[in-house]
Amino acid sequence: MIKSEYGAWVGEFVAERERRAALGDPDWEKGARLPAEIVRSIQKFQVGEDGDGSALSGKADLAGDPVYSDAVRLFIAEEQNHARMLKLLLAAGGAETLDGHWSDAAFVRIRRLLGLRVELLVLMIAEVVALGYYQALRDGADDPLTAEVAGRILADEERHVPFHCLRLREGLAGLPRPARRAVTAGWRGLLAGAAGLVAVDHGPALRTLGVGRGAFVAQTLRSSAWMARAMSGGPVPAPTGAGAGAGAGV
Ligand SMILES: [Fe+2]
Ligand SMILES: [Fe+2]
Repeated sequence: MIKSEYGAWVGEFVAERERRAALGDPDWEKGARLPAEIVRSIQKFQVGEDGDGSALSGKADLAGDPVYSDAVRLFIAEEQNHARMLKLLLAAGGAETLDGHWSDAAFVRIRRLLGLRVELLVLMIAEVVALGYYQALRDGADDPLTAEVAGRILADEERHVPFHCLRLREGLAGLPRPARRAVTAGWRGLLAGAAGLVAVDHGPALRTLGVGRGAFVAQTLRSSAWMARAMSGGPVPAPTGAGAGAGAGV
């Protein structure tokens, strides 16, 4: 069994939780200067972070590996912490959160119908788009508090991707090779579509951050090449705390 690999992930998530507790929160009191287009953009991502994982833990339990279930719960806690930090960032900039974005409600409803493998493939699309978004926010925001929050979230997302790749590699391992290739090629096609939708929806914010729409989509697709290889049987980076991997490589 590959339980021990998830054991390393549980260790990584727990170590990160302790590191986070020792570090404490960003200094919300210093406030944030958020242009209107950045507020609108962060509000939508805040809703998405809040929804992450709600459909996942039950399916993880059904997979029958309690170590994996533990790791998934720790992963979900990180996503909820992202939603919490984005809410506080918005508040520091004098902005509210949204009650719920229609696209997110639809996303959650669809995900409830899926099995664990497809659920993870869908979740991975959100994770990879998020990687590009938080990188743009960290590197392009003028506001120091925004850059700090984006940097913290980005570091978590970079760990989430190899964690999901590991489970997906196991989940796809029973398929013949051409079928695995078709799944990962289809996944990258859907990723390109999702990145395109986000690039249009968040275009004004991305422009403020210095990232063009086309560049956002191209970078998202480029970053996904190693993930597709990992899912279809290639190497998956180990948790960095375990000493074997060098991070997500994006
Ligand atoms: Fe997240
Ligand atoms: Fe994530």
